[in-house]
Amino acid sequence: MEKFDWERLPFGYTKTDFNIRCVYKDKKWGKLEVSSSEYIDIHIAATGLHYGQEAFEGLKAYMGKDGKIRLFRWEENAKRLIASADGIKMEAFPVEMFREALFKVIQLNKKFVPPYGSGATLYIRPLLYGSGAEVGVKPSSEYTFLIFVTPVGPYFKGGIRPVNMLICRDVDRAAPLGTGIYKVGGNYAASMRAIVTARNGGYSNTIFLDAKEKKYIDECGPANFFGIRDNTYVTPKSESILNSITNMSLIEIAKSMGMKTERRPVPVEELSSFVEAGACGTAAVISPIAKIFDPEKNMIYEYCKDGEPGTETLKLYKKLTSIQNGDEPDTFGWVTIVE
Ligand SMILES: Cc1ncc(COP(=O)(O)O)c(C=O)c1O
Repeated sequence: MEKFDWERLPFGYTKTDFNIRCVYKDKKWGKLEVSSSEYIDIHIAATGLHYGQEAFEGLKAYMGKDGKIRLFRWEENAKRLIASADGIKMEAFPVEMFREALFKVIQLNKKFVPPYGSGATLYIRPLLYGSGAEVGVKPSSEYTFLIFVTPVGPYFKGGIRPVNMLICRDVDRAAPLGTGIYKVGGNYAASMRAIVTARNGGYSNTIFLDAKEKKYIDECGPANFFGIRDNTYVTPKSESILNSITNMSLIEIAKSMGMKTERRPVPVEELSSFVEAGACGTAAVISPIAKIFDPEKNMIYEYCKDGEPGTETLKLYKKLTSIQNGDEPDTFGWVTIVE
């Protein structure tokens, strides 16, 4: 693929050759279909458009030094999509069909998997939406599942870079008994106002607090939060945050490195006790946090005074990315090779 300048690829959409689609109709899923179109034909009354019956996933394929393409914990994405489907009463897409579609779409677009060492990866976006027509508010009787892939550059060019975050108190992303634990489009729509405010203020993203009491840390935009202190990795437990696969993995890695781990409600005041802090998710793996500003309390919490990520954050980042890229043996059993 000489026409790609892999090193300069943005973290954005680039067209690839094929995507895979599958339709649920008459109470059953049909066959997987390969398409070379970037567009979908959608009914004007589809519930996915009107009532937000839509869920998605995000994972990556990594090219190893050995020329093998690796996937990281893809079953967790398949299971999370099933949970999201159930959360908004859509038809679940079975794990085995998810696997087949996933492997097929990668194989068909093999030439778009960025080379080892470029820092770029193949981003994979499964999507499920209500495609049947309804006017009353009720679940659709038809669904469409699709997966497209797109090569993306590293979130931060040249490695990981500390970012600044703004605490948000005037927008809630999700309510405690709402849909925050699901990866549904509505949560992202609800977060846009806060994200735009943060970006306009020069911040990388927003930190949402729990919607009920505004006492505890929820999430960092589309990523989970963690703080480190006294050899302990602390991350919020909340009814309204997405269960990040990256965070689940970092917890296991932290344990394997001899750190203690705590998953529990994290009060805002505790931010002052952390020595390192970060946001984690598939896109950036880890974004170390340099500063968090709380406008209501006029407080600034600082973590990277010298402008560099902390040592524990770097160790966690290196270990996880080495497993994903196949540079280190995968002792956790997280990686699948796409044959
Ligand atoms: C709201 C939200 N939280 C957390 C994450 C991180 O999850 P993961 O590590 O599975 O990518 C994401 C990204 O998927 C997200 O959208």
